[in-house]
Amino acid sequence: MTLILPTISFLILMPTIDAKLAQTITLNNGYKMPIIGLGTFESDPGDNERAVGDAIAIGYRHIDTAYFYKNEKEVGNAVRTKIAEGLIKREDIFVTTKLWSTFHEPGYVEKAFKRSFDNLNLTYIDLYLIHYPVPFQRLLKNDSFSVNDVSSFQLSPVDENGNTLTADVDYLIVWHAMEKLVESGQVRSIGLSNFNSEQTERVLSNSKIKPVTNQVECHPNLNQRKLIEFSTARNVTITAYSPLGRPSSSNGKKLAIFDPKVLELAKKYNKTPAQIILRYTIQNGAIVIPKSTNKNRMKENFNIFDFELSNSDMQFMHQLNNNYRLFEYSSEKNHKYYPFNIEF
Ligand SMILES: NC(=O)c1ccc[n+]([C@@H]2O[C@H](COP(=O)([O-])OP(=O)(O)OC[C@H]3O[C@@H](n4cnc5c(N)ncnc54)[C@H](OP(=O)(O)O)[C@@H]3O)[C@@H](O)[C@H]2O)c1
Repeated sequence: MTLILPTISFLILMPTIDAKLAQTITLNNGYKMPIIGLGTFESDPGDNERAVGDAIAIGYRHIDTAYFYKNEKEVGNAVRTKIAEGLIKREDIFVTTKLWSTFHEPGYVEKAFKRSFDNLNLTYIDLYLIHYPVPFQRLLKNDSFSVNDVSSFQLSPVDENGNTLTADVDYLIVWHAMEKLVESGQVRSIGLSNFNSEQTERVLSNSKIKPVTNQVECHPNLNQRKLIEFSTARNVTITAYSPLGRPSSSNGKKLAIFDPKVLELAKKYNKTPAQIILRYTIQNGAIVIPKSTNKNRMKENFNIFDFELSNSDMQFMHQLNNNYRLFEYSSEKNHKYYPFNIEF
């Protein structure tokens, strides 16, 4: 079956295992990004390298990590192992990592990037994102550490009441430092994460290099239709994080993945609810990065390119949206760069 999606270019399907690889979208700088990737947040540290290796063997060609996840070394090891085994070449795989909020100040963007670059050890990084527009204070973990070493700083600095200690750094300054990284040749593309439409517009209007994507929470309960429409019109892709809605989260039962009507759809298409949900989000215009360390679920999540939801089923899925946000970051609600105080 040929799939027709306005912004997503598919390779010609051929009856080999490689045919399932590299379903890509062309970014605004010409690089191609696979429209499904493996998420790695909260993957068991001892198991992550194995999981990333399995994902590559299954056919994943896009891995999402972050300095904050503390697993960049494992991701890099797994990719290098698969390159050494001859399964892939470096240019076959797209690796994303992210700048954490404690490193927004001038000088620290470069330091933090260098640490991620060294952790991954993959010649270059495909995509580097500003993880979150709100900057945090840099608090040393322990006075004996060095201020020149980014690992000396707490990742989640909080006051005595548990509220995040935020700072005051304009994300445009951060963006300009990110642009310099592209000029250095160590990273191919740069982008945003958790930015709203106004923040995205401000970056677009004040940059030499445009963000290629904005990675935001996106699943049927928070389908981001307005942000996707806004961003696509400006040639910025949307990458959907938590695309399954983190089914084991405490509010899991509210999620589309458990909706009896989604189960009915799954039966109709001979697919699982997870596959219906991921397929929906791709047809909705986003790139998906489901996390799993389980080989069978990784295969299940990847196997979504041999069917297409009909228009009427897409309409039904759209109705599941109830703007239910898993990641509210409510402790930073009063910060001027808090992104979720406007509609989208
Ligand atoms: N930029 C940001 O601020 C941000 C925030 C959150 C996440 N992210 C990125 O987005 C990725 C995905 O988001 P996420 O990890 O929050 O949530 P998710 O991918 O929606 O859900 C992951 C959870 O679903 C389970 N799962 C996976 N496949 C399944 C299936 N087919 N059926 C049932 N359960 C399944 C996983 O368990 P098993 O591992 O046991 O399969 C895991 O507990 C992250 O890993 C991270 O890379 C970015």
